[in-house]
Amino acid sequence: MEQTKLKELFDSLTLDEKIGQLVQLNGNFFDSNEKIATGPVVKIGIDKEKIYQTGSILNTMGAKELKDIQDRYLQKNDKKIPMLFMADVINGFKTIFPIPLGLGCTFNPKLVKKTAEVTAKEAAVSGLHITFSPMVDMVRDARWGRVMESYGEDNYLNCEYAKAMVEGYQGNGDKYSTILSCVKHFAGYGAPVAGREYNTVELGERSLRQDYLPSYKAAVDAGCELVMTSFNTIDGIPVTANDWLLRDILRKDWGFKGVVISDHSAVKELVPHGVAKDGKEAAKLAIEAGCDIDMMTATYSNHLSSLVESGQLDMKYIDEAAMRVLELKNKLGLFENPYRGADEKLEKEVVLCEEFRKFAREVVSQTCVLLKNDSILPLTKNQKVAVVGPYAFNKNLSGMWSINVDSEKVVTIYDGLKKQANENCVTFAKGSPLLDDDHLFESFGYAKNIGELVSDNPVEECQKAVQVASQADIVIVAIGEHPHQSGEGGSRGEITLPRVQVELLKEMKKLGKSIVTLIFSGRPLALSEVSQYSDAMLQCWFPGTEGGDGIADIIYGKVNPSARLSMTFPYSVGQCPIYYNEMSTGRPAKGSTHSKRFTSRYIDIPNEPTYCFGYGLTYSEFKYSPIELDSHILTPNSSIKASVVVENISEQEGTETVQLYIRDLVGSVVRPIKELKGVQKVLLKPNESQKVEFIITEDMLRFVRKDMKFASEEGDFEIFIGKDSSTENKDTFVLKK
Ligand code: BGC
Ligand code: BGC
Repeated sequence: MEQTKLKELFDSLTLDEKIGQLVQLNGNFFDSNEKIATGPVVKIGIDKEKIYQTGSILNTMGAKELKDIQDRYLQKNDKKIPMLFMADVINGFKTIFPIPLGLGCTFNPKLVKKTAEVTAKEAAVSGLHITFSPMVDMVRDARWGRVMESYGEDNYLNCEYAKAMVEGYQGNGDKYSTILSCVKHFAGYGAPVAGREYNTVELGERSLRQDYLPSYKAAVDAGCELVMTSFNTIDGIPVTANDWLLRDILRKDWGFKGVVISDHSAVKELVPHGVAKDGKEAAKLAIEAGCDIDMMTATYSNHLSSLVESGQLDMKYIDEAAMRVLELKNKLGLFENPYRGADEKLEKEVVLCEEFRKFAREVVSQTCVLLKNDSILPLTKNQKVAVVGPYAFNKNLSGMWSINVDSEKVVTIYDGLKKQANENCVTFAKGSPLLDDDHLFESFGYAKNIGELVSDNPVEECQKAVQVASQADIVIVAIGEHPHQSGEGGSRGEITLPRVQVELLKEMKKLGKSIVTLIFSGRPLALSEVSQYSDAMLQCWFPGTEGGDGIADIIYGKVNPSARLSMTFPYSVGQCPIYYNEMSTGRPAKGSTHSKRFTSRYIDIPNEPTYCFGYGLTYSEFKYSPIELDSHILTPNSSIKASVVVENISEQEGTETVQLYIRDLVGSVVRPIKELKGVQKVLLKPNESQKVEFIITEDMLRFVRKDMKFASEEGDFEIFIGKDSSTENKDTFVLKK
């Protein structure tokens, strides 16, 4: 629609119609059976007459269903303004990829971009317009359940992934293969105090700007059309009512022109937060702060008009927000074609097609991190393998956010292994339930034991596994968290595996066989005990539809693993939050002149994590030369070429993930001990070596200085190039301005 026409349409809207554009409800409100639809109307307390003014819905999917909803809606909407269809399509639509934290471990933004492209293709033909993804909250605390939805703890990688995901979803805007992206949760949601979901966030402005905001900005710079506000406070002010974040930073500083949507009920939650005394005040605070759409409450719908009519709210706030929503609809072409890409025929062809499944399988093998390997893996096809554990034959491999998954289509670990091994070489026994007891069901949102998860007789179950495993040469133990132990509302105070599963592992070890442990989880777990009983360990996250095949590819050596941890694996929960790029302290545990006691350390556990950021093994072995710099002096107008020679000193072709870190030795404010600044993946044949080069430029050294400017400072720097964040392969250079 031409801009003048759009303006005409906008001018014709009543106040209530404009407000309707700012309300988002779910599909239940638009059920063809009006009686059923009455339920949600009553629950949420919205005026029934206003339902057909609603601007958008969330989490309903499917070409036919969405077309029907749009049809019914348009019949009853006076101005014939189509609705927007948004949904949480997180790690895949129906072809489910590994959870985002797994994708983070690829250290490969190009591959991650392709997952978003596939997801967009499936979602677009299924009628969706917008996904609430990517979530680029920087996160350092494994207790927080939503670490599974993040890409990990590193700013550099998060920015790369933010850009990759937005570009992957939004592409060239074609209606059959792209959707729009809503980055979330702006801002700082990944840093709740004590890792407890929805808790307060306490961040200094420097850290907020330097560590937490850049990934959202990277999404905005990549053209992301929507931004979701987070539930948390920043310096005492909930983000949904925070005009400094939503107007000064997001719109003024970053130039964001798109739509801001609240997180689910976040406008209404300004009341329990205690910054608004009632819904009316909450509505006023949020719209004035710059939150355009109220997701899933009647707060805007019930209060904005009376606020305007009584002169308490300037109409300009409603006008600007409603116009943004109309502009978004126009950008999607909805006025010409309210169904956009929804197409039942294409949906059948595209969704879960062979090509996408094949790609998902490849992605699985790029996300699993080999944590330990005492010369056990890869297996040969004629070895006798027993696969035991609650994840051995389990289709629940997609993590908590895959609301659209078709579990029947998921390849189990047992099936994946059986396909690749010689006949009769793989046997199976469950061996243990997922959980120790059922007290968790209620907090998972289940009313009662849904079977499978706990067992009346775990001892007997374990004994059966002992029998099966005693016949084998190798025991693969597939264990992990229940998918509902991570994800939203899934914060944990302990980050170990359920006891009953560790007991199974111990029993298996007692048999004297080689043990390969596969770990399924939505977070880094404390694995030191598991490591004691394992000869090899593969961190599998929740791998999605192609889990079994992708993991079997690694187990039997079709793929040489190359993923690296994008989040630190703590030694114990007491270290959380723990991250590689911590700040220098005045009394470092190593290198202080004080006696050991009076340094920054624990007296009962190590400072070091079990597995550091960037860590991951391959079936190959690589050797690094010392770093070579073509100059030791950097200026704003020159660059330094830093190189190493990486050599594959094994008989296995493999990919090495070469990582560049920099340390600013002296700054006007305390600086991190090391920061990732570059990654390169190099594929090397046996005994092949390759020179790997990084270009160092002044902009890589910028930070939020004492004067709050984002800029570099002259002085000495250390540069590290190696296989993970613990590398000591280093050199130095000086920045002169
Ligand atoms: C979550 C968001 C999600 C939204 C809509 C909220 O509870 O925090 O990440 O996009 O629900 O389902
Ligand atoms: C302690 C102070 C103490 C000072 C002098 C420091 O190590 O932190 O509390 O007053 O020593 O003994």
